[in-house]
Amino acid sequence: MNPIIRIRDLRKAFSGRPVLEGVDLDVPEGAICAVVGQSGTGKSVLFKCIMGIMKPDAGRVWYREYELTAMEHDALIDLRKHFGYSFQNAALFDSMTVEENIAFPLREALGLKNRKQIKKQVDEMLEWIGLPEIGRYTVDELSGGMRKRVGVARSLVMKPDVLFFDEPTTGLDPVLSETIDNLVVRVNGELGVSCILITHDIPAAFRIADKIAFLDGGRIVAEGSAKEVAASDNELVRNFLRISFSELPV
Ligand SMILES: Nc1ncnc2c1ncn2[C@@H]1O[C@H](COP(=O)(O)OP(=O)(O)O)[C@@H](O)[C@H]1O
Ligand SMILES: [Mg+2]
Repeated sequence: MNPIIRIRDLRKAFSGRPVLEGVDLDVPEGAICAVVGQSGTGKSVLFKCIMGIMKPDAGRVWYREYELTAMEHDALIDLRKHFGYSFQNAALFDSMTVEENIAFPLREALGLKNRKQIKKQVDEMLEWIGLPEIGRYTVDELSGGMRKRVGVARSLVMKPDVLFFDEPTTGLDPVLSETIDNLVVRVNGELGVSCILITHDIPAAFRIADKIAFLDGGRIVAEGSAKEVAASDNELVRNFLRISFSELPV
């Protein structure tokens, strides 16, 4: 199958200091693809370059047959409607209610005005994330885990084709992290949304991703299924795996 996102020789430097030095990556359609790597290796920069939020210095990115890196601003904004994203800190509006937050993209990006229709879609999303009762709460009344789920609901309400998660479990305890991991699996499995998961949580990536790509030194140094990556002879990957999967003390 054709990849839903294709990246070729992507490069980005800041003040002469290279971060991405020729990233090649295919994201398979309908899959969960995890991009993993040490913190500061450029995972978020890669994410922003794919989304078109940041302009790469060189290289090309396609979404299906559309080359994002060749698009005019307006066309890019329009195309981005196929993308949903869930940021590190969910980026919700704290003083607004949960309902208002989830309705926001429907009103702003899609221009929906019909209150009943909006309410129906918001309620469906709240039901789907398993929090049907919280619509009237303001965001600052919610726990960290609830916020993350509301953030996912808000990105899903637009019915995206691809959903990006940048470190969705950072700062959450292990139990909540698993809840969010499971939500990613449901988004992918039940809604058929292709997911790009950026994370430094290697065990989670191995548990849920169909494809794993290791970013190091500005390039993808290992990629494939969990099994394939586990067999990589790249030294950094081997070290990472050894530390991440070392046995618990008994
Ligand atoms: N807008 C920016 N201006 C300058 N440097 C940046 C900018 N964004 C990211 N960087 C640098 O690029 C490197 C990679 O950052 P980032 O992609 O956030 O790493 P991570 O893999 O942890 O997500 C870091 O050294 C960071 O300081
Ligand atoms: Mg990051």
